[in-house]
Amino acid sequence: MSSTPSSDKGNQGAMPAAGHEPNAAEASTPVLSVQHLRVEFPTRHGTLVALDDVSFDIAPGEVLGVVGESGAGKSMTGNAVIQLLEPPGRIAGGEVRLGGKRIDDLPEEDFVPLRGRHIGMIFQDPLTSLNPLFSIGDQLIETIRTHLPMNEKQAREEALKLLREVGIPAAEERLNSYPHQFSGGMRQRVVIALALAARPEFIIADEPTTALDVSVQAQILALLKRLCADHGTAVMLVTHDMGVIAETADRVAVMYAGRLIEIGPVEEVIRDPQHPYTKGLMASIPGIEKTLDRLYQIEGSMPRLAAIPPGCAFNPRCPHAQERCRRERPDLMPAGAGQAACWLHDPVDPLPRIDQNDKQEHAHVR
Ligand SMILES: Nc1ncnc2c1ncn2[C@@H]1O[C@H](COP(=O)(O)OP(=O)(O)OP(=O)(O)O)[C@@H](O)[C@H]1O
Ligand code: SF4
Ligand SMILES: [Mg+2]
Repeated sequence: MSSTPSSDKGNQGAMPAAGHEPNAAEASTPVLSVQHLRVEFPTRHGTLVALDDVSFDIAPGEVLGVVGESGAGKSMTGNAVIQLLEPPGRIAGGEVRLGGKRIDDLPEEDFVPLRGRHIGMIFQDPLTSLNPLFSIGDQLIETIRTHLPMNEKQAREEALKLLREVGIPAAEERLNSYPHQFSGGMRQRVVIALALAARPEFIIADEPTTALDVSVQAQILALLKRLCADHGTAVMLVTHDMGVIAETADRVAVMYAGRLIEIGPVEEVIRDPQHPYTKGLMASIPGIEKTLDRLYQIEGSMPRLAAIPPGCAFNPRCPHAQERCRRERPDLMPAGAGQAACWLHDPVDPLPRIDQNDKQEHAHVR
């Protein structure tokens, strides 16, 4: 793997250089690899396990959607990857690799240069990423010059190019505008430009469109998807909205109570979800429920971290739950076109499905 000609300290040798054509070995290396990730929050009453044995890869140029109800652990996963866990939260096990190189064990001073340069970040509120005191041109130029070997003039050209790419009208004039002079949708476009400015190979987008009008949401998602495909940037797209995943992602990872419970190609997971919880989630997408064989009634809510039941964490809400589910915890196993953590798919001794014919079911998983 070749080194990066940037001024980054510590990890520059690990990452492919911007604009560099990957060789075969690099092309087969996932951009992001998360293996057996465990996050704990020590409290006075014991240790809360916020993420337990979470594993997934994201390939170059791929959009992985991470979905689940509120509190499932989606943001926690993203925050652990970029080492922005709120204290006293800490990574207690597993590993995270970027471009094949371990990053979960890096001290903060070595991690700082990765954020922005190798990992772009887009959050729900664009104002958290933009400085109200500087024009967006200054912010873009500064980001570009911090991370890429460009002089002021080249960086200004690059900033203009990015603003045009993200669809800001009259980009030259808007370079001198301040964040408050943009609408919410336009601000999120600027944030996408900023996230792409240093040509990172990976972007984390956590609920990037949740605060926007529905009509603007679709435009922003289409933009993010197109630009990342053009730039070959891998994306981890965190959202509670299965509709957003359906529109944008290549694969989807479904989380429940701090665990990954299903992962697979988006179209297949939507058409034929393998985990009973995912079936309920799918039924919450307008229009999609009609393609499912029946609606699932998933009563109750996700457990608090302090009260995750033994065995399969979903068992109190699952219409198929049986004794084994309350006793043994299923890991991800092959199911459909992907994997699901459910004993219904045990390759050796699959749990029989409980016939739902007599049940009147409606999903309310949101
Ligand atoms: N600072 C913290 N200390 C202790 N527990 C926390 C902390 N932050 C989050 N949690 C817990 O960790 C779990 C996962 O939270 P997370 O923020 O990842 O949820 P999420 O899936 O992103 O949900 P949402 O859709 O609401 O954003 C939740 O049970 C939450 O209560
Ligand atoms: S393991 Fe059992 S409780 Fe859990 S989702 Fe599968 S059938 Fe339901
Ligand atoms: Mg969240």
